[in-house]
Amino acid sequence: MSDRTSLIVGNWKMHRDHLEAIQLLQRLAYHLSEEDTDEQEVVVCPPFTALRSLQTLIQSDRMAVALGAQDCHPEIEGAYTGDVSVPMLARLDVRYVVVGHSERRLFHEEDDALVARKARAALSGELRAIVCVGEGEQARESGRAEEVVLAQLRGSLDGVEPREDADLVIAYEPVWAIGTGRTATPTDAQDMAVAIRTALAERYGSERAADVRILYGGSVKPANIRSLMTLADVDGVLVGGASLSAEDFALIVGHRRAI
Ligand code: PGA
Repeated sequence: MSDRTSLIVGNWKMHRDHLEAIQLLQRLAYHLSEEDTDEQEVVVCPPFTALRSLQTLIQSDRMAVALGAQDCHPEIEGAYTGDVSVPMLARLDVRYVVVGHSERRLFHEEDDALVARKARAALSGELRAIVCVGEGEQARESGRAEEVVLAQLRGSLDGVEPREDADLVIAYEPVWAIGTGRTATPTDAQDMAVAIRTALAERYGSERAADVRILYGGSVKPANIRSLMTLADVDGVLVGGASLSAEDFALIVGHRRAI
């Protein structure tokens, strides 16, 4: 048994304006029990426009839910129209930031080098970085999934030095499983998590690698959460679609209780 704290992250993507976000988080909090948040971390990543409202709500209601952002800029400030920096996020009590999500890689042409810069910025700004990697369908079908994922991982961690407080998180999200209803088999998810941890150990030493939490993402639902959370090297999940339903996300968070 590892002593890594499980981490359940909801990625709301470009859904919910700030008023809808308040409602969604209130509903979620209503469904969560203390037991759900005592031994695992629960994080929601709303659009930037909802961060301030949710910060206020979390504080005033003392919710055991942390905030994450879906992206950040690698620089602290500057003439970067439309971007948001790590210090700005930190001021809103954002604790986590997702970097290198496959949708950013695809629609914004982000490459591994940029993802690594963002991850470095997050860690130096005292945020925890959730670095996403994952192979496309072709790579999976041609048996190159591991090779592709590990190459992405190495590139996306260039110059990234985790400290001791579990500030680095890797999310393995096979692109073909995102929003498709198809999930990696538990065996594939576990095998990839082991490959990732082995690569992390080569890079940072096995002790540090054992601290890094590895999440699975891609069509996580109440129906498949248990089989994923029992995997030895999968320490949590990154949930897209199902995190937009307070009831479904609460079932995912409460996977240890009866469903
Ligand atoms: P999904 O998205 O759960 O809707 O497949 C996962 C993600 O993109 O993080």
